Amino acid sequence: MTEPLLQVEHLTVTYETRQGPVRAVDDVSFTVYRGEVLGLVGESGCGKSTLGMALLRMVRPPGRISSGRMIFQGRDLMQLSEGEMRKLRGRHISMVFQDPMTSLNPLQRIGDHIVETIRTHEPQVSKKEAWERAAQLIQRLGISPDRLKDYPHQLSGGMRQRIMIGIGLALNADLIIADEPTTSLDVIVEAQFLDLLRELRDEFNLTMILITHNIGVVAELADRVAVMYAGRMAEIGPVHDVFHRTLHPYTRGLLASVPSIRLEDGLELETLSGAPPSLLDPPPGCRFHPRCPQAKPVCAQRVPAWQEIHPGHGTACWLYAEEEA
Ligand SMILES: Nc1ncnc2c1ncn2[C@@H]1O[C@H](COP(=O)(O)OP(=O)(O)OP(=O)(O)O)[C@@H](O)[C@H]1O
Ligand code: SF4
Ligand SMILES: [Mg+2]
Repeated sequence: MTEPLLQVEHLTVTYETRQGPVRAVDDVSFTVYRGEVLGLVGESGCGKSTLGMALLRMVRPPGRISSGRMIFQGRDLMQLSEGEMRKLRGRHISMVFQDPMTSLNPLQRIGDHIVETIRTHEPQVSKKEAWERAAQLIQRLGISPDRLKDYPHQLSGGMRQRIMIGIGLALNADLIIADEPTTSLDVIVEAQFLDLLRELRDEFNLTMILITHNIGVVAELADRVAVMYAGRMAEIGPVHDVFHRTLHPYTRGLLASVPSIRLEDGLELETLSGAPPSLLDPPPGCRFHPRCPQAKPVCAQRVPAWQEIHPGHGTACWLYAEEEA
């Protein structure tokens, strides 16, 4: 898990709204390594889906990527033409949307969609072969191959998402970005689906960005976790470190909402109070300061810099700054 597949540097995504610009992703940097599952967590509205879409350059107006670089397999995605990006989408980077209806044609049977997608990227594959490949994959994803004959609206939201993951796998995508893939599943199906994803990760050496607000899912499946707060990255590190040597007070608050996770350092966990700020007019300095139980005067004035505190485990928080001046 050492080779970087994707390096995101200072990425900023802005929605131009009537009330003013909303920086939904603000100066975010992180790396995705080949073969890992990176969990991306944070409260509703913190920018997770926007970040996922930005990685495919699919942010829709009034949103746009206003700055930053995304180096994927050595190429800066910002420098590619729209045609080159189209080739990359699906084949190399596959996105499973929060609402997969948006990426499926309602008038096309699921099987035909998968066959067409496979053949667009691999024209040498026959229709029959592509259909068989699709059938095998969706069976692995816990869906009967008969459902390939269904139209998208005949499937549940969870099935549609699993189908989208299937398409990514069928194309052997280098990176799958899955946005809340378990939210619409009931607990039992969710547990089965997580087992399956774990198997697939090992079997296909999947690289996946798993966007979720469910910390339990991250604990189950992710190797590393990135915590976002109000458009910025708060903490990134190996799951065990982030859970047990938590650095950022916001991460502590998030973990406190999950009773099964206990911190080892004996510190009392305080659940988060208050709500995330409006991104139209975010608080100055550290955006978490109005809710932070450990805030200091500098927190309201200046944005804390990113620092690596343990190997591969970093945060942006004034508690760890050597000097505040
Ligand atoms: N089309 C849009 N126009 C204006 N603002 C938008 C638009 N889409 C998203 N935003 C704003 O960008 C911010 C991030 O939204 P995003 O959907 O990325 O959050 P999220 O973390 O995925 O939330 P959730 O967990 O609810 O899916 C929000 O504050 C939202 O209001
Ligand atoms: S920088 Fe300050 S306000 Fe922000 S999380 Fe750290 S201690 Fe809290
Ligand atoms: Mg979202």
